[in-house]
Amino acid sequence: MVHIRQATTADAAALDDMVRELAAHEGDLDHVLVDANRWGQLLARPDVRVLIAQDESGPIGFTSIVRRIHLWTGGDLLALDDLYVRPGHRDKGIGSQLMTAVARLAAEDNLLVQWGVRLDNHAGQRFYARLGASLNTKMTASWAPAQYRRHLAAVR
Ligand SMILES: CC(C)(COP(=O)(O)OP(=O)(O)OC[C@H]1O[C@@H](n2cnc3c(N)ncnc32)[C@H](O)[C@@H]1OP(=O)(O)O)[C@@H](O)C(=O)NCCC(=O)NCCS
Repeated sequence: MVHIRQATTADAAALDDMVRELAAHEGDLDHVLVDANRWGQLLARPDVRVLIAQDESGPIGFTSIVRRIHLWTGGDLLALDDLYVRPGHRDKGIGSQLMTAVARLAAEDNLLVQWGVRLDNHAGQRFYARLGASLNTKMTASWAPAQYRRHLAAVR
């Protein structure tokens, strides 16, 4: 039996493990700076929501969400950060159950839910399209400190 529940600070270590598994899966482990201790602090924040899928073996997946201001509407939105189901538990509808739990959370306050999916992640796009989500392309830009410092040095 799979059960979806809100994570508490007691889930910090399990969540840290799953975030690292997901980052390793995406070849991005070097960019994960958060640790279990920090997760303990983050999970205590009201704007950070993590839903955990669990069966008799323990946590088998999660989704992480940040509730934040959306300036054009003047209200809040739910920014979905990660969605992850452990290998061996995939293709059994657990990812869909986690998204259903996100929809329930959003419906409480009628909030928009927003997230990104890589252009080459066709399975992910199919998965989200089946849930009835809109898929629009938009490029993401980022300015790391070293990059904007180079810009600042150039305009000085
Ligand atoms: C995406 C993910 C959470 C789906 O969980 P799940 O429990 O297998 O989902 P469900 O059983 O409800 O649905 C299965 C569908 O999800 C698809 N899927 C979506 N994203 C996928 C991914 N990145 N890798 C593999 N399958 C994915 C499967 O292909 C399948 O659809 P299909 O039958 O059309 O191929 C899981 O595959 C996963 O953790 N993948 C690695 C992390 C990831 O890619 N996260 C999403 C980033 S946008």
